[in-house]
Amino acid sequence: MSDSGGGCCKCCFNFIFTLGLTALFMWLSLRTSSPDCLLSKFYLPLDQTSNSSNPTSLEFELRLKNTNKDKGVYYDPINVTFYTPNKSHVIGNFTITKFYQGHKKNARKNGTIPIIDQDVVSRAAPPANGSTAPFRVDLVTSVRYKILMFKTKRHTIRVGANVDVNGTLFKVNHKDIKLKSNADKIRSYCGQMGFFFANLLVLGLLIF
Ligand SMILES: *[C@@H]1O[C@H](CO)[C@@H](O)[C@H](O)[C@H]1NC(C)=O
Ligand SMILES: *[C@@H]1O[C@H](CO)[C@@H](O)[C@H](O)[C@H]1NC(C)=O
Ligand SMILES: *[C@@H]1O[C@H](CO)[C@@H](O)[C@H](O)[C@H]1NC(C)=O
Ligand SMILES: *[C@@H]1O[C@H](CO)[C@@H](O)[C@H](O)[C@H]1NC(C)=O
Ligand SMILES: *[C@@H]1O[C@H](CO)[C@@H](O)[C@H](O)[C@H]1NC(C)=O
Ligand SMILES: *[C@@H]1O[C@H](CO)[C@@H](O)[C@H](O)[C@H]1NC(C)=O
Ligand SMILES: *[C@@H]1O[C@H](CO)[C@@H](O)[C@H](O)[C@H]1NC(C)=O
Repeated sequence: MSDSGGGCCKCCFNFIFTLGLTALFMWLSLRTSSPDCLLSKFYLPLDQTSNSSNPTSLEFELRLKNTNKDKGVYYDPINVTFYTPNKSHVIGNFTITKFYQGHKKNARKNGTIPIIDQDVVSRAAPPANGSTAPFRVDLVTSVRYKILMFKTKRHTIRVGANVDVNGTLFKVNHKDIKLKSNADKIRSYCGQMGFFFANLLVLGLLIF
């Protein structure tokens, strides 16, 4: 009587243990991390042909990095918008066409935006004495991840950064600037909590 009870309990325990491990494994393999978006170039060439010395276009380059070890990323069209400091005016926007990126890949995307309102941009430019002004770039898109042969649902990516620009309207920082989301902190916190609870589950099952 007690023997069969023990056997059932052991069987039950094995079942729960296997379930726990499966859940952990599924969670680990389905977990995705959003791609990194970096601004590697920001340049507003000044018009040399007239005396106005107004900027005529904005040239930029973005780097998009798939940080997933074994998942591809389908990018929807990427909307990039540039603003004068404090987002007081829109300089212009640009759409990068949709594309697919394999795991651990790094893509560079160029863009040129003709400047419609030259006066607004000229007024926002810092004096050419070494001081800088923080222009702003925002990016919005949605991505789907490719896991084996499946595509996940769409995840929205909404990130941005300030770009310090000098008097000749060059990006001052030679390093690439990482665009960040306000929700980044929350998401990584949730990820950590998920990992913590999965560990706790396995640990609990092992002790039990
Ligand atoms: C630039 O300004 C100078 C003097 O003010 C003038 O002689 C010249 O024609 C101007 N050039 C252009 C391209 O407007
Ligand atoms: C941007 O806003 C900050 C604080 O709100 C202000 O101190 C600064 O002068 C503003 N810069 C520009 C260029 O308007
Ligand atoms: C891009 O700019 C145009 C004109 O400035 C504006 O009508 C449009 O709404 C902008 N699109 C986005 C996604 O910001
Ligand atoms: C972007 O432009 C730079 C210089 O204009 C060029 O070297 C680079 O290859 C371009 N990248 C792409 C992805 O077109
Ligand atoms: C540059 O000039 C501006 C205005 O003329 C002044 O406020 C600023 O302190 C100067 N910056 C430097 C680094 O000299
Ligand atoms: C990007 O801009 C286009 C056109 O303005 C718009 O239809 C699309 O929804 C935007 N994408 C995102 C992710 O907001
Ligand atoms: C702005 O930065 C660019 C690139 O670093 C440099 O060539 C240029 O001389 C700088 N301009 C000023 C006014 O500091």
